[in-house]
Amino acid sequence: MSAQSAAQGAARACAHPNIALVKYWGKADAAANLPAVASLSITLSDLVSDTQVTFDGAGPDRIVLDDAPASDADAARLTAFLDLFRARAGTQARATVRSSNNFPTAAGLASSASGFAALAVAADAALGLGLTPAELSALARRGSGSAARSVFGGFVAMAGPDEPQDHARELLSAEAWPLHVVIAITSRARKRHASTDGMNLTRDTSPYYPAWLAGQRADMNAALDAVARRDFAALAAVAEHSCLKMHGLMLSARPGLIYWNAATLAGIETVRRLQDAGEDVFFTIDAGPQLKAVCTDGSREAVAAALARTPGVVDVLSVGLGGPARIVADG
Ligand code: DP6
Repeated sequence: MSAQSAAQGAARACAHPNIALVKYWGKADAAANLPAVASLSITLSDLVSDTQVTFDGAGPDRIVLDDAPASDADAARLTAFLDLFRARAGTQARATVRSSNNFPTAAGLASSASGFAALAVAADAALGLGLTPAELSALARRGSGSAARSVFGGFVAMAGPDEPQDHARELLSAEAWPLHVVIAITSRARKRHASTDGMNLTRDTSPYYPAWLAGQRADMNAALDAVARRDFAALAAVAEHSCLKMHGLMLSARPGLIYWNAATLAGIETVRRLQDAGEDVFFTIDAGPQLKAVCTDGSREAVAAALARTPGVVDVLSVGLGGPARIVADG
């Protein structure tokens, strides 16, 4: 971030999406958007939200997402988020925001995570606030829980309600354990249920919700230990368990939340076959139908080829682990 851009009240930042290996689903405090469970994620390379913000003038914020004016709902959510930064800076200046993703929005690829992380970093710089990464992460969380993790690169842990922090922290850099992620795109449609609504429905109606909360610390501890030891098999076991447990929880809501399609399930079968053949790979799936296969470098080609041949898979993206959210020089 250059001092010049801050003086002009403008900055541009980019951030990568992340995927959770120990899943966040549920809120302890809806108003503060505090998660009901801790989570652990990897930040992806190549996929990027690129966000410019300028604070100038008066009137309502002007927000353009992927070259189209934001919907009323998105605009309201972003204005509330920008108000957090304006309050800290003691300004009421209107913001002009332009944000774009180089990957499908709202299809289970965590565009809200990278989008709010990039906007937090850009707004901080544009207003000259000088916030720490932990403070940026806590603010990004207010926009979207998973965005707290996209402030950091590599392997990231987000604190749960049993910890004093309200932000994420980096566990290992991307370089320290350079895993790969093959993303099998099974649909380009926008997802049917927003995460926040899905979480509220699950908390209110699923008989499994208390068990979900009770089991999370053990999963976190297993995953933290696996990451510290770079133990792929142990990470695979807990990540698949957390993913399937979250989807079991979602299925048990009333009405049940079903995010998978036939190709998602076919992708799971492909990963199982690859595992049987000795490849280092495991799957994870979020609140959408895309399947993400996490693998070692040695298994990447076999995983990408097998998922590309899987019935219903419309595209395959192969990415590495990415770095933290950061300012882009040309403001
Ligand atoms: C399934 O971060 O999108 O991807 O805090 O309501 O914005 P809000 O939810 P969001 O939820 C992400 C849910 C998930 C699992 C995860 O990323 O941990």
